[in-house]
Amino acid sequence: MKKNFFDNRVYDIFNKERDCCEGHLASYIPELAKINPNLKALSIITSEKEEINIGNYNYKFTIQSISKIFLLALALIDNSEEEVFSKISVEPTGDPFNSTLRLETNQKVFNPFINAGALASASMIKGKNAEEKIERLKKFISNFTDREDIDIDRDIYESEYKTANKNRAISYLLKSIGVLENDVEENLSFYTMACSITLSTRDLAKAGLVLASRGVNLKGERVLSSKICKIMIALMTTCGMYDHSGSFATSVGIPAKSGVSGGILGVVPKRMGICSFSPVITNQGNSIIGVEIYKDLSDIYELNIF
Ligand code: DON
Repeated sequence: MKKNFFDNRVYDIFNKERDCCEGHLASYIPELAKINPNLKALSIITSEKEEINIGNYNYKFTIQSISKIFLLALALIDNSEEEVFSKISVEPTGDPFNSTLRLETNQKVFNPFINAGALASASMIKGKNAEEKIERLKKFISNFTDREDIDIDRDIYESEYKTANKNRAISYLLKSIGVLENDVEENLSFYTMACSITLSTRDLAKAGLVLASRGVNLKGERVLSSKICKIMIALMTTCGMYDHSGSFATSVGIPAKSGVSGGILGVVPKRMGICSFSPVITNQGNSIIGVEIYKDLSDIYELNIF
């Protein structure tokens, strides 16, 4: 019989008492402030099909910035690499995820994993309006997660869309520098719907395994090219945790992408997809407990890719 890679220590990592009193919920999206801060989940799925699911692993949360992975992937399918990267560079910023600063001073979008970059990716996805684009995106995501019923949390969508003045400002700046060519509100609506897609850690770990497997899903279907997977994993390493990406790479060494609702999707190339969820976040927008779980997983199971 095949020996499992994970043992009971993964449960100890998950159950360890951790202090996150320095953190907060993402209250700039009013509806997100209502989330139960005690929810906690971890899912891991390996290329050998070993699956670990602990805590609230079936709880579906809004994926927020984890959607930036799917937005970029679909933009890269709909357009050539040259077209996409003529509008969006691939450089880390060290600035907050919703910063407008460099759009004014440098007149370009630094990378696809900050809000400016994801708004640009969203604008490059084909479809005649936000509804058509979101239907395409949902279908695309279902290939990764093995889940047909991809839903949107309409309350969180409405709450964010009504209050998304920072993203509106970013969108108008993008328009002023010629990156955004379509309607600001339509594009913002699509982007916000993408952020409001709900998935569980179990679904997202499966998506992580697709990236780890260079684009092949659990059914053995190719859903993304190996080339795009490599781009995605490289960008997760350098930009996936925003202005904490350098620290995360040096202390954890697992390519990852976070979202303000508390999810962190991790990819250990060729080996496994991981997703943690715990809603209390740092000022940089990363889950406090999630980062600590990743650190312990990396240390104890030697998952650091460097
Ligand atoms: O656009 C926003 O601000 C949110 N919908 C997503 C931001 C986010 O998740 C940043 N995360 N760590």
